[in-house]
This record gives sequence, structure tokens and C-alpha cells, in this order.
Amino acid sequence: FSAFLRDGFGRRHNYLRISLTEKCNLRCQYCMPEEGVKLTPRNQLLSTSEVLTLARLFVQEGVDKIRLTGGEPLIRADVLDIIAELKKLQGLKTLAVTTNGINLSRLLPKLKGAGLDLINISLDSLVPAKFEFIVRRKGFHKVMEGIDKAAELGYNPVKINCVVMRGLNEDELLDFVALTETKPLEVRFIEYMPFDGNKWNFKKMVSYQEMLDRIRQRWPDLERLQAGPADTAKIFKVPGFTGQLGFITSMSDNFCSSCNRLRITADGNLKVCLFGNSEVSLRDALRSGAPDEELLQIIGAAVGRKKKQHAGMFSISQMKNRPMILIGG
Ligand code: GTP
Ligand code: 5AD
Ligand code: SF4
Repeated sequence: FSAFLRDGFGRRHNYLRISLTEKCNLRCQYCMPEEGVKLTPRNQLLSTSEVLTLARLFVQEGVDKIRLTGGEPLIRADVLDIIAELKKLQGLKTLAVTTNGINLSRLLPKLKGAGLDLINISLDSLVPAKFEFIVRRKGFHKVMEGIDKAAELGYNPVKINCVVMRGLNEDELLDFVALTETKPLEVRFIEYMPFDGNKWNFKKMVSYQEMLDRIRQRWPDLERLQAGPADTAKIFKVPGFTGQLGFITSMSDNFCSSCNRLRITADGNLKVCLFGNSEVSLRDALRSGAPDEELLQIIGAAVGRKKKQHAGMFSISQMKNRPMILIGG
């Protein structure tokens, strides 16, 4: 495993998240401000060949999992070609997408055909009007169709990302758990995290412990399952249910010590931590004609500066970062 992808704390970064676009067909409250964000001019975004060149380099150094994010990755016109090309990379074991699900049911057969291995879908409410309030657009039924289609095509589990916010969707926890009774889903409750423009505050966050307590009141025999070593979620199951639950506890119990993730933003910056504001431009290095060795030096130096863990929820809520839509989750 390449020394360039190993940090000072012994973490091996074998999971790369690539944002394919800054655009999105939804406007989720927790992800972007109402007025939208300033988009990067097109010529400063990574081209398809630049995305593939960088992916190839990272895979050559030991990355074996790539997740495509956004904005909404499925609105990039050539997403199917990108997936098909990435699948050809020797050494890549897992290719995944995180999507809002709006275009999913239509695209899924082609995505599967192109080689997509895993699919995570955002869904924050099971009540159509509330869904529309949170995402500031319509589309609830399309997302539900996308989820069913993914299950039908054999994705198992289909992971559902639900950002839990006080006073908004916290009353739906049990309904989300109930979804796992008959469907092959992993419903993941995510602690609300602060990003620029999303108006985070501590009171709006519902902690892992509180969610678990509420679910245990209804299903006292909830069972903890063993998660993978670098998984973001702590996973559980109601005995007898088909699917399972997860909790992503970035705020109350961070999992930074096992972090294996690096990010490339749509405008070509390498971001070594979701909550770090130091970024380095791989796009500029590529465009200046830097050979692989020089790119690797740049990557290695950035990985080497990665902090042991994020600075804690109050510090990160004060720091300058990007809005989530410009990071990709
Ligand atoms: P799997 O590949 O299925 O494990 O998915 P994932 O959890 O890595 O990715 P996904 O895009 O579904 O993200 C789910 C949630 O986890 C989002 O809220 C992400 O912001 C959060 N997340 C993903 N990676 C990290 C990370 O490195 N650190 C923190 N704190 N949160 C992360
Ligand atoms: N807090 C927690 N999770 C978030 N996501 C987006 N914004 C936030 C936030 N502020 C999640 C979405 C999406 C994933 C990529 O990131 O649920 O599924
Ligand atoms: Fe779009 Fe995803 Fe952000 Fe929602 S969370 S606005 S779907 S990028």
C-alpha cells in the first residue's frame, strides 16, 4: 500500500469519494442555503478525462473503493461512461454512488449494466409534504420508486441516508425502522452536521444515544451487529426484520480513528477530511503537466497533514468550510 496514501497515524486511505458535479435537482436544507451556492465556472471543473486520470492514479496507489457524489452525481450527462471506465481499473473492487434518488428508477438498469456495485440513497421523510419541505422541491414518489427499483435489481442492502433534525423529522424514527421489516434496506440515521450555510446548531442535532433510546423503547431487543472496520455506521437489527439500521455518529462519537476516506471536489481539490478546510488543487497540478510522481508528492503531503480527528462539533461549526453540496458528503 502506497506511502503517499498513509498518514502519520497509520491510517490507510483506500476509499476515494469523487464529486462529479456541484449541481443538484434538490435544495436540501441541511446541504445548501436557500439562495443556492455560487457555482464554479465550467472550465474550472474537472473534465471526464481528468477525473479518470486522477482515479487511475489513486487506484494504482491502493484505493480499492470509489464513491461518486455531487451535488447530485446522476445529473452529470456522462455518468454512465464514467462508471464504465472506472470499472476497468485494475484493483478497484467497489464502485458506489450516493444519490438523492430522483433520477434513479429510470437510470438504474443502465447503472447496473455499467457495473455499479453499491447504492446509497438520501431520504429524510416518509411524509410527502415534509419531504418537499426539507428538500425544497417535489419528488418523494420518484425517490421511493428508485429505492424499490434498487431492491428489485438485487442491491442488498440498499442504504438509505436519513439526516435526523429536531422538530423536523425526528418523529419519524420508528416509521423508518418499520421500513426495514420487509425491505432489504439499511436505514442509516445520520447526526446533523454543520457546514457553511446550513444553519446548524446543537439543539437541532438529535444524538445517537437519544435515537437509540427512542427506538429501544419500541424494540427493546434491538441487536447490535458487527460493522466493517472502516464503516461510517454502527449497525443494528430488529430480530426477524429483513433489513437493518445504522447510525452515523460523526458528532457525538466520531469514527476518525478508522477513517480511510479522501475526497476530490468537482473543482479538483483534494480534501483529506470532511471537516478540514485545507485543500490542495490537483486540477492545477494536472493542468500544469505535472507527472505522476509530482502529483503523488502533492497528495502525500496533504495526507501527511491530516489531523488525528476533527476538531469537535462546536469548533467545526465555527470554522470556514464549504457548503455540503460543494463537498459531496
Ligand atoms: P458506505 O460506503 O456505504 O459505507 O457509505 P458512506 O457512509 O461512506 O457514504 P455516504 O455517501 O452514504 O455518506 C453517509 C454519511 O456519512 C454522510 O452524512 C456523509 O457525510 C458521512 N460520511 C461519509 N464519509 C465520512 C467521513 O469521512 N467522516 C465523517 N465524519 N462523515 C462521513
Ligand atoms: N449532516 C449530515 N449528513 C448530511 N448529508 C448532507 N448534508 C448533511 C449534513 N449537514 C448527507 C446526505 C447524503 C450524504 C452524502 O450526506 O444525507 O446522503
Ligand atoms: Fe442535493 Fe444531496 Fe445536497 Fe440534497 S443532500 S441538496 S440531494 S446534494
